[in-house]
Amino acid sequence: DLEKVERLGEWILESTHTVVFTGAGMSTESGIPDFRSKEGWWNKIDPMTVSTIDALENEYDLFQAFYSLRLGDLKTCRPHKGHTILADLEQQKLISAVITQNVDGFHQNAGNENVYELHGSLRSIFCSKCGHASNEDAFVHTKPCIKCKGHLRPDIILFGELLPQEVWGDAMKEIEQSDLVIVIGSSLQVAPANELPFLTSGRKVVINNESTLLHNQFDLQIEGNAGDILQNVHKYILEVGK
Ligand code: NAD
Ligand code: APR
Repeated sequence: DLEKVERLGEWILESTHTVVFTGAGMSTESGIPDFRSKEGWWNKIDPMTVSTIDALENEYDLFQAFYSLRLGDLKTCRPHKGHTILADLEQQKLISAVITQNVDGFHQNAGNENVYELHGSLRSIFCSKCGHASNEDAFVHTKPCIKCKGHLRPDIILFGELLPQEVWGDAMKEIEQSDLVIVIGSSLQVAPANELPFLTSGRKVVINNESTLLHNQFDLQIEGNAGDILQNVHKYILEVGK
């Protein structure tokens, strides 16, 4: 929908503090399943059996298998053109920050520097008992902590855990300074992350390949694949910017 893409391009060029907010839909074109669309993770496995503190403590083999599978995905999957375009836009100072619910680290791999990971990162592994830092290889091979023999875990937010309060506070500051927030690839069903985009005093845009319950709260809704839409917005900005 070219008219909407051009409007988003205009808003990005006009704005002085644009914040991008991403969810799992930002990584599906890299081959990483999201959660709540038809081929999403939570249609294959109940999050309450793998993504909770209880699972970490009482079903460690299931917990370790699920997150090892997710880490395996990161070995074969790569950031896609949409990630690269967001990095380019930060380089050109057209966006100020990326706030993400994703734990795949793809925004940083693609080159974004000002990234806030609300749900942590699969890339860092530590001991759930003594906190000693470890590594992906040890976790994937079910090795115990070398210091206390405890269970290793990725540094992500599970059900029942609070979000990293410092990251939360810094992300909130970005939103408070923003005059444009662009939500990409999130069903906005998980609190408190889903509250952030609505705290901006500026314009709100949502890019998603299906409509969500909250879409009528946005100034602009663009339906389709994140990668294609970002490519068209980028092309427009480059043409107008000439
Ligand atoms: P969830 O429903 O648990 O929401 C995420 C976290 O927000 C939860 O731990 C929840 O306790 C916390 N939360 C809820 N209300 C809060 C509040 N008021 N204050 C502070 N924290 C609050 O999400 P989930 O379904 O359990 O997700 C499981 C894991 O899957 C997450 O750790 C997430 O990091 C991971 N994940 C990764 C990707 C990706 O990398 N592409 C995508 C989705 C999920
Ligand atoms: N382009 C645009 N939108 C997409 C694409 C794509 N290529 N692929 C999927 N989507 C959309 C889906 O239609 C869905 O509405 O992205 C949204 C992804 O929503 P979820 O699967 O719910 O992922 P997310 O919003 O990130 O979930 C938030 O829930 O499981 C927890 O903590 C976990 O961070 C995660 C949180």
